[in-house]
Amino acid sequence: MISGMLLEFEKISRSFGGVRALSGVSFGVQAATIHGLIGPNGSGKTTLMNVVSGLSGADAGRLLFDGRPIHRLRPHRIAALGVARTFQNIRLFSGMSCLENVIAGQHLMGARPLFQRLFRLRSANLAEMKSLADARACLSKAGIAGRESAPAGSLSYGERRRLEIARAMALKPRLLLLDEPIAGMRLREIEEMESLFRSLVASGVTILLIEHNMPFVMRLCHSITVLHFGETVMTGTPGEVAEHPEVIEAYLGGKGERNEG
Ligand SMILES: Nc1ncnc2c1ncn2[C@@H]1O[C@H](COP(=O)(O)OP(=O)(O)OP(=O)(O)O)[C@@H](O)[C@H]1O
Ligand SMILES: [Mg+2]
Repeated sequence: MISGMLLEFEKISRSFGGVRALSGVSFGVQAATIHGLIGPNGSGKTTLMNVVSGLSGADAGRLLFDGRPIHRLRPHRIAALGVARTFQNIRLFSGMSCLENVIAGQHLMGARPLFQRLFRLRSANLAEMKSLADARACLSKAGIAGRESAPAGSLSYGERRRLEIARAMALKPRLLLLDEPIAGMRLREIEEMESLFRSLVASGVTILLIEHNMPFVMRLCHSITVLHFGETVMTGTPGEVAEHPEVIEAYLGGKGERNEG
């Protein structure tokens, strides 16, 4: 294990039929930093995040979390190690309230099965009260405290993204995987998310961030990995990435704006 690395990709490959989505991807993510993952549409970013969270297995290579191989573990085992995520295509229980959605995230932490936790909301014991308070704090940090009883399906697009972030935060993750978290958000919301992510990292959380909004990535990330056709073009600081000729060719110059889920 390389010192200070929370996550280490070692020659990770993944194909779908004839499509080689990831081809020998290697890089490390330093603990308590924000690491950006950029690249054109279809370059393998989401697939790589799916490998981390266990949704997609790797065909070859190793993935270490805190020095421990996790590439063969099931998603719930990986989540239990302290890995939480949001999805490019938002996944919420749209008929449930915001608060219930966050509590549904907490059930992975353990005490009781989800149905019991929801059923017992009204006659909450101390532990339930604590998780309720935690859930409310997560909603508040994500800037949607005022919407706690609103059904998730009634939220605006930006609010739904924040709710997903609140739900991931409720897991108290060590590693937070964010797949295009600010897609569709307004400028003010983006600024709020920026300060939220900074404060999470200041408290010791590590963030792996996929985002097409380049100014946001450049401001926020400590280091960035660039993917192109499933291969690592480079890993470096925002300054190094911005100056790399292949990156300018392959990514910064090579695609138009795209900012939807
Ligand atoms: N479940 C799947 N079945 C078949 N092909 C897939 C699957 N998931 C991804 N792919 C293919 O793998 C490649 C990488 O896709 P991926 O979604 O990881 O790209 P991405 O970098 O996240 O793109 P975007 O910026 O558009 O979200 C694409 O060619 C895609 O079509
Ligand atoms: Mg994607």
